[in-house]
Amino acid sequence: MDKIVVVGNGPLYGKIPIAGAKNACLALMPATLLSSEDLILTNSPRLSDIRTMSHLLKSLGCSVVSLDEGRTLVLSTKNIDNHIAEYDIVRKMRASILVLGPMLAREGRAIVSLPGGCAIGARPVDLHLSVLEALGAIFELRDGYIEGKVNGKLKGAIFTFPMVSVGATENALMAATLALGTTVLKNVAREPEIVDLAECLIKMGANISGHGTSEITIDGVESLKGATHSIVADRIELGTYMLAPVIAGGEVELLGGRRNLISSFCDKLEQSGVEILQKENSLVVRKTNNQVRGINIITEPFPGFPTDLQAQMMAVLCTALGDSILEERIFENRFMHAPELIRMGAKIDVQGGVAKVSGVARLRGAPVMATDLRASVSLILAGLAAEGETIVSRVYHLDRGYEKVEEKLGACGALIQRVSE
Ligand code: EPZ
Repeated sequence: MDKIVVVGNGPLYGKIPIAGAKNACLALMPATLLSSEDLILTNSPRLSDIRTMSHLLKSLGCSVVSLDEGRTLVLSTKNIDNHIAEYDIVRKMRASILVLGPMLAREGRAIVSLPGGCAIGARPVDLHLSVLEALGAIFELRDGYIEGKVNGKLKGAIFTFPMVSVGATENALMAATLALGTTVLKNVAREPEIVDLAECLIKMGANISGHGTSEITIDGVESLKGATHSIVADRIELGTYMLAPVIAGGEVELLGGRRNLISSFCDKLEQSGVEILQKENSLVVRKTNNQVRGINIITEPFPGFPTDLQAQMMAVLCTALGDSILEERIFENRFMHAPELIRMGAKIDVQGGVAKVSGVARLRGAPVMATDLRASVSLILAGLAAEGETIVSRVYHLDRGYEKVEEKLGACGALIQRVSE
């Protein structure tokens, strides 16, 4: 397994290109199941999760061709000749559940393995099943699989989510495009990835309005056609790399970065003393030479502070001036980076869903272990500012969501390299 070695090397200066959003791409790719015509996705990130989704779709009978060194995906589903999403693929990536809605909408049947939990929580799929049942799907759980069928076609309905769920919103949105009549979804997720999916579905001929707000209306159509869609920039990659000059000092320009993708995150950064400048098609982040001030964070659904940036922010706050409180309200176990940061000299006290961080002058490099995607990159950020060498193991977690992290940070002067064992 690969490791990444980082040596604290002072301020960073340079430019980092931001890729297309992993979490948008993982919802856009299953949309191919809704149409028999080509769906062309450009600005695709080149990540292991995208390859896993491609593998899953091919197992269902889709054609997925990657062009332009993987930056363009051409997906085509003339027929779905297998309706079973196998456990050995689904267990690798929860987003596999996003084939359920489109398959039920197009074919009236689907068998999808229960995704199981993961490091950050149980992450059930009850909301996915509830909203699809409201549209007329009938489910049975058997031998670890969700067996779904529809008598005839899905039918439009009014459904209010009891809690906000990104994935369940995406499943419902896709399914409703081919349902008979009108569907109104309330208390939906408002993330930019939802907006991006809706805009792509509209290009395919869907009738959707309200995306980006907490209520989306979909008027079902008979069928969808092909489309070409450029994937929105990855706001989590953007936020992650914005923190590199914050923790190490310096000035970095994030190419393709837009503040409105992560405005609450930017507000918090400015509150802690960071300068952020929006240029024509990039964001410049500069940390003046004083320490960032400690701040309090609560993770919430968009437009609140993103849970996917909580671990990275914690790394930064470990060397802030004063104390910080981070409250994780989305997932029940998303502080596994804390013990690893403590190994580097951080002062963190975790009580349930709340972590109290007391800033220290400097972290010390150490061998640490990645436990999940965002925890892994928070350890790399910590290593950028730590004294000495930090060795991050199990970086396969990292490769799920970050393309060539060592190249992007190395281009700004970081001493970072990947070591294959
Ligand atoms: C998406 O996961 C993202 N993944 C996650 O990013 C992100 O952290 C999460 O949204 C929240 O923003 C993708 O888009 C592929 P949820 P998702 O349904 O859809 C509970 C990353 O690092 N819940 O909004 O699975 C759930 O357990 C990943 O890129 C139910 O109880 O998240 C969680 O506590 C990590 N029942 C909360 O809701 C359900 O049926 C939010 O989950 C569904 C969810």
